[in-house]
Amino acid sequence: MLDRRAIMTATTALAGFFASAFGAKTAVAAPAPERLFKGDVENRGSDGRLERLPTLDLESGQDFLTGFRVKVNGDFSRIALRRSRKVLEDAGLDRYGDYPMAQVVKLFENDPVIGTNTRLWLSSQQLTWKAIQDYFHDNAEKYIAEMEAADEQGPGTLELNPGIEPEYTKHEIHIQPGGYVGDEFAGHIYHYGTNMFFDGKNNQDEGHIAHAATINVPEDGKVNRILELGSGSGQLTVATKERFPDAEVWGIDVGGPMVRYSHMRAVDLGVDVNFAQRLSEDTKFPDNHFDVVFSHLFFHELTKEASEKTIAEAHRILRPGGVFFPIDLWSRAERPGVQAHQKYSYWWNHRWNDEVWFMEYAELDLEGTMAKVGFDVNERVRGKRFFEDLTGTKKA
Ligand SMILES: C[S@@+](CC[C@H](N)C(=O)[O-])C[C@H]1O[C@@H](n2cnc3c(N)ncnc32)[C@H](O)[C@@H]1O
Repeated sequence: MLDRRAIMTATTALAGFFASAFGAKTAVAAPAPERLFKGDVENRGSDGRLERLPTLDLESGQDFLTGFRVKVNGDFSRIALRRSRKVLEDAGLDRYGDYPMAQVVKLFENDPVIGTNTRLWLSSQQLTWKAIQDYFHDNAEKYIAEMEAADEQGPGTLELNPGIEPEYTKHEIHIQPGGYVGDEFAGHIYHYGTNMFFDGKNNQDEGHIAHAATINVPEDGKVNRILELGSGSGQLTVATKERFPDAEVWGIDVGGPMVRYSHMRAVDLGVDVNFAQRLSEDTKFPDNHFDVVFSHLFFHELTKEASEKTIAEAHRILRPGGVFFPIDLWSRAERPGVQAHQKYSYWWNHRWNDEVWFMEYAELDLEGTMAKVGFDVNERVRGKRFFEDLTGTKKA
């Protein structure tokens, strides 16, 4: 007869081996009493800014998947890149040439090596979401009570407006089950899931803290009010408040579960940030209100129409001289110099990773749209491969 306990132990040990092989941590930290808010549920304490996943089994599984994702993003992706060059060569095409999206898709979509790489990437994502969602659903009562307890506590405020969600926001973007608006644990799922997306290098919000440091400020240096559009699980909003401790900082998101989780996490970290369930295209803030409005990994998940409305809205709520700072993946996939392999990733993300609006984003002229509503747009810094550093200043 199979000894289930022995198998589980061996599996956990194996996961632990992979985790340590990839540098992940599995040591259990005791909960720090000062980090507990009234009603806080912390099964296994916190590791710095990260509240540990509630069971060792779940944490080990996530560590394993993170290690696997590192492998996929590294060695396996390099194999797929080499393969894409061979496909181009076999077709008599220059590997650095600019080819239209339709041609790129035709060349690569049925290639087994490139397809396997995509499949491995997607599977790591699916397994990550599923394990986290299952745990919180199985223990829903406890974690709903925890959010209810945090709803009323500070620092910072929470505003929920259920029912505002437009249809285009109801998709399971990047195959996150339930999406941002359809699962009451969307914030938990997104936060723990994206730890894996960042190759395990964002457990302490390292990526978000680094982005907060890049946010440009108005020329006169006055930063009294700041807003993040599409604040997700609030990691960047919190990091921004830490960079600008004297400013009033807001995060808005269409997802009620997203802002609810963000507020709870900010309460847990003791950071005074306000979160509200509101739409980026209709923020309800007064004219000329903010000094800085920014976003991160946001516009590629909007329709073109919502992007245009959002940029106009950002312009309305910024004061003259105020700064708009959207950070995202490159838009305009058809711009010169985008290699075929990278262009193909727009398409497979759209087709298989449920990035429903990615192709609209791939066609969006972000800078042109900003200029059209009245921003002075800076020159893009091209130092990084995927992220734009693009600033719009509201003309005085
Ligand atoms: C990829 S997440 C980015 C989260 C966060 N900025 C970060 O970097 O971790 C995009 C977020 O935008 C939100 N969102 C999508 N459409 C929105 C809209 N029209 N108004 C406000 N938030 C929206 C989603 O709910 C989601 O939380």
